[in-house]
Amino acid sequence: MRNVLITGGAGFIGSNFIRYILEKESDLQIINLDALTYAGSLENLKNLPDEERHTFIKGDICDHSLVEDIMRRHHIDTIVHFAAESHVDRSILGPAKFIQTNVFGTFSLLDAARQVWLGEGVQPSEKVRFHHISTDEVFGSLSPDDPPFSETTSYAPNSPYAASKAASDHLVRTYAHTYDLPITITNCSNNYGPYQFPEKLIPLMILNAMQGLPLPIYGDGLQVRDWLYVEDHCEAIHFVLKQGRLGQTYNIGGDNQPTNLELVRQLCSILDEHLPQSPYTPHEGFITFVTDRPGHDRRYAMDIRKIQHELDWSPREDLASGLHKTVLWYLENIDWVDSIRAGSEYSEWLECNYERRGGVN
Ligand code: NAD
Ligand code: TYD
Repeated sequence: MRNVLITGGAGFIGSNFIRYILEKESDLQIINLDALTYAGSLENLKNLPDEERHTFIKGDICDHSLVEDIMRRHHIDTIVHFAAESHVDRSILGPAKFIQTNVFGTFSLLDAARQVWLGEGVQPSEKVRFHHISTDEVFGSLSPDDPPFSETTSYAPNSPYAASKAASDHLVRTYAHTYDLPITITNCSNNYGPYQFPEKLIPLMILNAMQGLPLPIYGDGLQVRDWLYVEDHCEAIHFVLKQGRLGQTYNIGGDNQPTNLELVRQLCSILDEHLPQSPYTPHEGFITFVTDRPGHDRRYAMDIRKIQHELDWSPREDLASGLHKTVLWYLENIDWVDSIRAGSEYSEWLECNYERRGGVN
């Protein structure tokens, strides 16, 4: 791993991964290709540990000739593919972008890798790697007594987002099987931590609670997610890049599965502890039940024994420690929050998503 193309590196997980890997690997160069959609921001890339080893390129992964050009010009030997449309609720309101970026965009990258690495032999094929970041949502929804998702669970996506990620996973697998492209895939559970765009559950709840705004719980709030602290996720990807077996997929999860309601209550009590003078304490009083998401998956849980046994990776943070760190980060980084909220896309989204659910914002 010398010259790494990171796609979607201005988004939540991609920017955390860039920070992480610049600390861990002293001699790699990062080329960060990101279209800067509403979810990407250069604010996420301020004060990187070793800035001169990071090059940002604004561009679309669907632009095949741009990707090929970057791969040749920067002698790319590793692609870590994060770029995606990533929010289920947005995929329900407007699926087309999800098909374009998640399916066509992944195809565009894979085909550029096939052309440049395998067709032109610019890099020896034993030295290259395409690593694809995917999600537990491709497996569908679990009933209360079902065992967690393993790497061999059948795909059964339920939302346009999940279907587009499932399609991209299949394409990656195909390029390995048919063309011998060296690939690995990781399917991870819900991430949380610094720099997450505040339309997703955890940052939305922290920021609304701080302002005494309603905390909108979809449906009965008894849906279950497997929460993974983003830095643990970055470490897991690093382990897979270093020691993962080619052609394999690895499940990554946080090893904890609260209901949404339990999670939001826990966030509220952390805020009560850190903001005892707030007029909005106890924050839990702002919990509001709103119309459910159509087709809402009930439960996700990850079986992470494969990555634990093969690569000796396990999450370091438990839910309490990860949530504490996250709440503190948002409290201490109000400038970042303000810069993200200043964009019109944020307020437009709140209006569009929550007005129809009962107008809580
Ligand atoms: P994000 O929405 O925060 O960031 C996505 C980034 O991709 C943004 O910077 C955006 O500008 C960029 N992007 C979007 N379309 C692009 C295009 N056509 N060309 C180039 N760049 C483009 O997403 P995230 O939460 O950081 O997720 C990263 C990856 O992890 C995604 O593939 C997502 O499916 C996967 N994932 C996320 C979670 C989670 O909880 N956040 C869980 C499982 C899997
Ligand atoms: P989200 O962060 O959108 O992630 P995903 O849909 O990929 O799991 O949502 C996490 C859970 O929180 C999901 O069950 C939907 C629920 N949720 C709410 O109850 N209220 C909200 O305002 C949001 C954004 C999500």
